[in-house]
Parts: sequence; structure tokens; C-alpha cells
Amino acid sequence: MLLIHANIVYSEDRAHLAVYPDSYIAVEQGRVQGIWPVFPEKYKGAPLTDYGDGVLIPAFSDLHVHAPQYLNRGLEMDLLLADWLDRCTFPMEEKFADPEFAKAVYDAFIDDMIANGTMHACVYATIHEEATSYLLERMDRKGIKGFTGKINMDRSASAGLMEDPMDSLQKTDAFLEKYSGNRNMRPLITPRFAPTCSRELIQGLGRLGRKYQTGMQTHLVESRWEAEQARVLFPECSCDTEIYERAGLMENGPVLGAHFIFPSEEDIRILKKYDSYAVHCPDATTNIIAGIMQAGVLLDGGVRIGLGSDVSGGHHIGVYTQAARAVQLSKLKEFYEPEGNRAITFPEAFFMATKQSGPLFGNTGTLEEGAVFDALVIDGLSDAARKLRPEQVIERFCYIGTKENIKARYLNGEAI
Ligand code: GUN
Ligand code: FE
Repeated sequence: MLLIHANIVYSEDRAHLAVYPDSYIAVEQGRVQGIWPVFPEKYKGAPLTDYGDGVLIPAFSDLHVHAPQYLNRGLEMDLLLADWLDRCTFPMEEKFADPEFAKAVYDAFIDDMIANGTMHACVYATIHEEATSYLLERMDRKGIKGFTGKINMDRSASAGLMEDPMDSLQKTDAFLEKYSGNRNMRPLITPRFAPTCSRELIQGLGRLGRKYQTGMQTHLVESRWEAEQARVLFPECSCDTEIYERAGLMENGPVLGAHFIFPSEEDIRILKKYDSYAVHCPDATTNIIAGIMQAGVLLDGGVRIGLGSDVSGGHHIGVYTQAARAVQLSKLKEFYEPEGNRAITFPEAFFMATKQSGPLFGNTGTLEEGAVFDALVIDGLSDAARKLRPEQVIERFCYIGTKENIKARYLNGEAI
């Protein structure tokens, strides 16, 4: 069991943080037992871990990140999506045909993600099944809860990444069969996005989704170019999201549509119908997409939104930085397009990065009683001349913190 003294902060709901200054939290069998303002008598004699002024928060969830793009973070950020894929991203992903190269990169990626406080993640791999299996198994062994998938694409990719649709489906079938079952890390069907997937391929993936009751991650109404491509390539569909709905890919498990920057009413209706997630990736949006999600109005409209680092479209592996960036971009959105847009608050951004996303990975993303204890201790951000309140420490961490400010990490109730 764990008994911890700290300041405790988590999302109460979308608009509010729950703040317990100078309090005690007990964890038994990996689950939160409760929070007390004074030392709980029933735990008398139990060893106490005291973090002093440290602030205990739920660990973060990254709902959209590309592990094979890890070595490209912060590079070639002056390109836009289509050129960035062709010149920067596809050449890197081709290297993952070599399992030894893949292992070295994936090990570094996983370690850095954990160091930056992400304990739950939806991760893209590449088209390569051996490297993707390694990524899933390695994350699984580390205890990270999440999803990964072999990418599918059979058009408009580089020669080295272009799959034959039947071969792509066969390999995906084998991957899903191998990893369906009860693990920390589970498979997701991962059609890259409409421009790189034929109708035949997407329909085949729909059959596999039903067969293995597996959800999907993709890039959805990501840029004007992508939305236009979706309309041209799938003229029978009224919007990008309908491509996946028609194939039956929305109904078998969690669905994550990254970016969702230019959705039509129909995209929004379909996403909500299946309780799917839109994933806001503010850095990627700024770097390679040049659009801003209407996060405020989508939240008000009942869309579930999580945050993604989207490395290497985004440049920082710490998804906590994206909570700050989401607030910043929402203010720009409201400033330049006041009609129908509103800025979001920091509690809303923190909610997206924790409590909103946690349920994808079990009862986590919160420190409420019964929650699986995946948590971080944040410290070292107050000034000598002014001590910050616990919730201010967390806001400042998201703006200017580094992994050095994460003083402790807990995963499944264990210190790591
Ligand atoms: N759209 C298609 N592929 C990608 C990718 O790898 N990253 C991002 N951000 N967008 C994409
Ligand atoms: Fe992406």
C-alpha cells in the first residue's frame, strides 16, 4: 500500500479542478482509497511518503503520437503536411523495415514518453509488422496502458511504404489475432488517412474491425487539403468521417480522429454518434497543418476531445505542453474568428489531457476513489519570492515545466 502526503489536484469536471492542499492520499492494490485533509488514523503505522510542497496529479494521456517519427521531432517544421510527409516523414518511416533500427528508436521513444509523464497513449507505428509487434510488447511490458497499430496505406505513399491492399489486410489480420486479448497495450486499426487508403482497403479493415471488435485511429478532417482529397477520392461520402462509418469502422471499439480541424456538421454528428474522440494536437496544427481546432465550441457541443503530442508533426513528446498550447491557440481562434468561437480555460485543457481521456484506458485520469493510481508529482516551479498555489504549479508546469519538474512517477500503483 502507499500513503502519500502532497498537494493534490485533479479535474473535478470539464470546468473545475479539485484542489486538496496539504493532504493525504492512500493507495491499495493499485487503486486510490481516498483523500484526507489530516493524517488518516486507520493508516497509523503505515510508511508515509512525503512530497512536501509537491503537487500530485493524474498522469497524462497522449491520444495521438507517432513513435517512428521520434527522431524527427523539431526538424523540417517549415514544411506543410503533404510535403512534410513526402520529404521528411515517409523516408524516416521506411527505415522501420529494419527491426534493429526500430528497436533502438522505440526504446528511446518509450523511455522519453514515460519521463515526460505520459502513462497512457494511442501510438502509431509504421506499416511494418515486426517493428510494430516490438513496440506493442515493449510498451505492454512497461505497464503503459494504450493502443498501437500497424499503419495501413496502399496509395500516395512513397514506394517503400506502399502496400498491396490484400497483403496489408492479411498482415493486419495476423496482428489483430496475435494481440487481441487482455493486455495493457491493445491493437487499434490504423488507416493512415483517406488520401493514402483505397476504398477496398478501408472496407477490408471494416471487416477486420468487426471480426476482432477493434476500434480505429486515423487523421480526420486534418487540413483543407486532406478534407478536399477525401471528397475527391470518396465522392459517395458526404464527409471524411462518413468514409469510416460506411466501412463499419466506428462501431467496434474506441475511435480517435486526430486534428478534426475542418469538420462539417456531418463529421461532428457522426463522431458524437459513436462517442468517438477528436484529438487536438496544437503543436502539429501550428507546425504542419496551419489550422486551429474549434476546441471551445466542440466541447460545448458535447464532442469528446483529448490531446495529442503528434510527434513529429508536434515537436515535444510531453503532452502536458499541449494543454498550454491548446489554451493559446483557442485564444488566437477567438481573436481572429470571434464568430462562433471561444477561448478555452486551463481547467478545460487539463481535463482534456487527463480525466476526459483516462476512461479509454480503464478507470484512470483522475485521483478519485477507486481510480487506478497512475500519477505524477510536480515540483520546483514556485519562485523564492512567491509560493504558488497547487493549481498554479500545474498551470505553470504546462507552460514552462520540463521533465525535471516531475519528481515522482506512479504507474498502476507502483513508483517507477
Ligand atoms: N496525416 C497523415 N499522416 C500524418 C502524420 O504522420 N502526421 C500528421 N500530423 N498528419 C498526418
Ligand atoms: Fe499524426
